[in-house]
Amino acid sequence: MAITAPRGTRDILPGESARWIRLEDIMREVCALFGYEEIRTPIFEKTELFVRGVGDGTDIVQKEMYTFVHRDKESFALKPEGTAGVVRAFTENKLYAAPQPTKLYYITPCFRAERPQKGRYRQFHQFGIEVLGSKSAAVDAEVMAVAVNIFERTGAQNIELNINSVGCPKCRGAYHEKLKAYLKEKLDILCEDCLNRYEKNPMRVLDCKEDGDKLTDAPFMIDYLCEECGDHFDELKRHLAAMDIAYIVNPRIVRGLDYYEKTAFEFVSKEIGAQGTVCGGGRYDGLSDLIGDIASPGIGFGLGLERLLLLTEATLTAPQRTFDVYVACIGRKAGEAASRIVKHLRDNDVSAERDYMERSLKAQMKYADKLGVRYVLLLGEAELESGRAIFKEMQSGRQVELPVAGIEEALIKALNEEETK
Ligand code: HAM
Repeated sequence: MAITAPRGTRDILPGESARWIRLEDIMREVCALFGYEEIRTPIFEKTELFVRGVGDGTDIVQKEMYTFVHRDKESFALKPEGTAGVVRAFTENKLYAAPQPTKLYYITPCFRAERPQKGRYRQFHQFGIEVLGSKSAAVDAEVMAVAVNIFERTGAQNIELNINSVGCPKCRGAYHEKLKAYLKEKLDILCEDCLNRYEKNPMRVLDCKEDGDKLTDAPFMIDYLCEECGDHFDELKRHLAAMDIAYIVNPRIVRGLDYYEKTAFEFVSKEIGAQGTVCGGGRYDGLSDLIGDIASPGIGFGLGLERLLLLTEATLTAPQRTFDVYVACIGRKAGEAASRIVKHLRDNDVSAERDYMERSLKAQMKYADKLGVRYVLLLGEAELESGRAIFKEMQSGRQVELPVAGIEEALIKALNEEETK
């Protein structure tokens, strides 16, 4: 029986991969403009990193991680997200010793054993940015501006920015008590997952797809922020306004990872089905201390590449593959000459292809046409014998003869002349 790919994974095939490259190029361009540098961290980390970083009680750690024990000794996990590894690398490599802030980005596969559906995979890809070292709300706004800039350049439209503040350890305790008292009265209408959340992380009940909307009169964190968190949130809104970035305050945005405090945000689209959150992030001022014993504030986001590609199907197109020259060849001698010629062309930055299938001349011309090549060099037994090869411009059908002796140089010259026409 033929072997198939694991459930929830996808092959990114030629054609589609060109759109991926285009998108990644845009992301890198935007990062360069904003001053973010690339960081690459391992695909697997010690399981403990995510248990401590993402949070023991989260769905990710409880149900979705691909964990393996190596040689009966150490437990590792495939990265379910990018932030924990970046923060570990930041503390372990003492990036905090350089002038701050540290502005990083990554493009990485991530792994979560979720139920696959449109826009939700078990291996998916995140573009993420992380800024460490600054508490400033101006940074929070800049991080959101990076995502907005990418959306604009890819032509993605109708993406709504939802912002919230999830408070800090100082103000969250008292709020949790209030929320739990409220939820206690509603336990009989909560789903099973939420009964669990009620114990471990009651705020997550508010963004449950099933229960969230039933809890219309629930108390929200945003109304119980301490002075510092309240001021920070107000400042964020002023910076967003200064940059003309539209947002809505959505007190239900809680996020599924434990490390957030103060700012939490999501960019959401209604155009790609149930998995509409294209990008999510927030501030994690306590995470580097938790992971690496170094206190340094941080904020960032993760953006799902698959989801943004779904959203930009009409606007983000990849250029067609093209070749400058196709060398049509018949026979052994012409075949060897073709090898020499395409090497010379490629060495001179001219993209070139030749026949490898021993097709007839007619079939080779048809294939060259399908490839969309600009020029064909015809090299059959007859051409070798006469010492004259045919060089043809495909679109106009215009053709000239080139001497077979020294044909490589003659071709480059002919191509240069064509350029200036
Ligand atoms: P997250 O919300 O778990 O946050 O994931 C970020 C984004 O990754 C989502 O908005 C979505 O676009 C994409 N994504 C997540 N799971 C899947 C999946 N199974 N299939 C396809 N796409 C998916 C984080 O991961 C945080 N590390 C973000 C962050 C960075 N916060 C601060 N810094």
